[in-house]
Amino acid sequence: MKIDEKVYRTIWPITGGVSPKNDAIFSVSIIDQTSLPHRFKVKELGTLDEMIVAIKTMQVRGAPLIGAAAAYGMALAVQEDASNIHIEKCANALLQSRPTAVNLRWAVNRMQKIVADLPLEARNNGAWREAALICDEDVQINHAIGQHGLALIQAASAQNTHKSFNILTHCNAGWLATVDWGTALAPIYKAHDAGMNIHVWVDETRPRNQGASLTAWELGKHGIPHTVISDNAGGHLMQHGQVDMVIVGADRVTSTGDVCNKIGTYLKALAAFDNQVPFYAAVPSPTIDWTIQDGLSDIEIEMRDADEVSYMTGLTGDGTIESVRITPAHSHALNPAFDVTPARLVTGIITERGVTTPDKLKQLFE
Ligand code: MRU
Repeated sequence: MKIDEKVYRTIWPITGGVSPKNDAIFSVSIIDQTSLPHRFKVKELGTLDEMIVAIKTMQVRGAPLIGAAAAYGMALAVQEDASNIHIEKCANALLQSRPTAVNLRWAVNRMQKIVADLPLEARNNGAWREAALICDEDVQINHAIGQHGLALIQAASAQNTHKSFNILTHCNAGWLATVDWGTALAPIYKAHDAGMNIHVWVDETRPRNQGASLTAWELGKHGIPHTVISDNAGGHLMQHGQVDMVIVGADRVTSTGDVCNKIGTYLKALAAFDNQVPFYAAVPSPTIDWTIQDGLSDIEIEMRDADEVSYMTGLTGDGTIESVRITPAHSHALNPAFDVTPARLVTGIITERGVTTPDKLKQLFE
């Protein structure tokens, strides 16, 4: 997507000199998402350890982008040392960096397998090639999700009498959460680009405010009309007919269609169900965990630092970025980062293969 007329992906390799054996040495560039929306910064990562810090601190975040970052993390690891023992150690370190998004495990396993099948001297090139392929595939998948979602929006808006078609989204599932296009926002970009009159209700998404800071920023850069709302406003808007459709992303989806996504998604699904508002999850296939069936018992929910709840960060009047405490000094806080929306509350799942009901998800990929 474009930022001020320049085309960007969220992650890309860059060459930084040559090794004594004349091999190119790569590092990886990312958009540091912790600085958005107030500052746009590109950061260069030269080691696996730096990539792990970037994943843990959410400089890169969002399930598909975490997968791409893990793939490049493995390439950085192989560049350091291509031995089996080193690769195994690095894969384990990456797997522990964030537990919920299954894309991370998927990408690490895929990279391990590719590298293991290559002779030692071919592993470095092979790893960088595979990481680039994972990124290109992510872009193609999200592009297809956008097309399928567009058809859905076009069909739904045919019965719509408002001036604009109002879509509510939670967290950030736009291009910043992927390599490009986004998952939940891909159909929105496509619909806007096709000339439809789309308006997006953007949940702020406490505690890290990915909606207020990232979704609002990227929609604004693309010129899409949007309104940031507090996380608690969605139900009220649905009761008053101001939401035509909900589209969210996902961090892990079970083979039975339970959707694990950013904390607060479940409450939106309940409100949508009560108000007969269609609730869709946009899900690339690497986000589906075919090994599990029950989202509530089988998915590890990441517990993040309580300070993310107790403090808020923002831009002050004099242009500095500061964190301020919003809770009493001695109050405990709890910070589960994701929740599970049971399949029965999900109207449909938008994948790169088409749109399906949760019970037919497996069939779609057979
Ligand atoms: O904790 P994050 O920001 O890495 O959360 C992941 C997400 O961005 C969301 O849960 C998103 O809705 C799904 S990923 C496209």
